[in-house]
Amino acid sequence: MESTGPHPLDLRIPIAQAPIGGSTCPELAAAVSNAGGLGALALSWSDPTASSHKVLTTRALTDRLFYGNFALAFEPVSLVSALAAGLPCVTFSFGDPSPWVDAVRLAGAFLGIQVGSAAEARRMVGLEPDFLICQGVEAGGHLQSDRALGDVLAEVLDLATSIPVFAAGGLATGKDLRRALDLGAAGGVFGTRFLATHESRAHDALKARLLEAKPDDTAVTDCFDGGWPDTPHRVLVNGTLRAWRAAGEPRDGRPGEGEVVGRYPDGDVALRYAMDHPTHGVTGDVLDMCLYAGTSVGAIHDLPPAGDLVRRLWAEAQGRPESGF
Ligand SMILES: Cc1cc2nc3c(=O)[nH]c(=O)nc-3n(C[C@H](O)[C@H](O)[C@H](O)COP(=O)(O)O)c2cc1C
Repeated sequence: MESTGPHPLDLRIPIAQAPIGGSTCPELAAAVSNAGGLGALALSWSDPTASSHKVLTTRALTDRLFYGNFALAFEPVSLVSALAAGLPCVTFSFGDPSPWVDAVRLAGAFLGIQVGSAAEARRMVGLEPDFLICQGVEAGGHLQSDRALGDVLAEVLDLATSIPVFAAGGLATGKDLRRALDLGAAGGVFGTRFLATHESRAHDALKARLLEAKPDDTAVTDCFDGGWPDTPHRVLVNGTLRAWRAAGEPRDGRPGEGEVVGRYPDGDVALRYAMDHPTHGVTGDVLDMCLYAGTSVGAIHDLPPAGDLVRRLWAEAQGRPESGF
């Protein structure tokens, strides 16, 4: 499928940034959107005041479309304030968005819903979203799918009929995007790739770790369940995961349980086995925190400005050298 024509969301470039938790920020979202892609804020854990501020700041940096994500394993406590602040597009993941669809529609915002299986897609098309996001098991972070992206995407596309479907999981290069577009996706969602950018709030030590990681350095586990239980996640294998595995993966009495591995500038702490990943300003044994990353990590070799990355990925996807863009 050629995506050079008008895009359903009026994107000039069919590249979406994934909601990469605390590593999102207005500067990253705006850089992606200003370059022609779709920037994102992860708002699941922001209180109403903080979400409103993030939306207003992003709107001051771009007049283009961006979205806020709510993972519905958590009550979307800041949805109303984010919409009131002018959030132009919302995506929901990890739960049933039915109770929240009217609020999004009444605010006039676009609606996207993430699915990870044909069964979920069948339920979600009934809510008539503006787009779906199909996540495959290659993805970094929490997983809604246990199947390869190519397999689940084919099934979701069949069910979605005229609803555009973005592909997420394991995409790091323009060639990866081209493959997803050729399968019929309306665009590609890149998470780990945007962690390794200039604007991302990922901790410098995590950015450095991403650059040296090999394709086989990730694993799917339920090790880092503090704050978000019962949901598998893909991470870089680190000291915490290795020690837990060596101990036989016990649920109780885990090695180093309760230890502080990260301290935030505001005094908050991250405990070993917590869901938090290291962001800017955290001190401590930050590489023992949860290091979310997709299988895409082996193809990440630099820390470019996010806008340059969007343009480069799109040039690669079109088979053009970067300098030709
Ligand atoms: C650090 C990190 C944080 C994430 N946080 C969220 C989140 O808040 N909500 C969500 O729906 N998905 C989240 N994800 C998953 C992404 O939305 C996306 O599915 C994934 O990054 C795609 O795979 P990739 O990392 O290989 O590009 C996160 C992923 C990463 C790497």
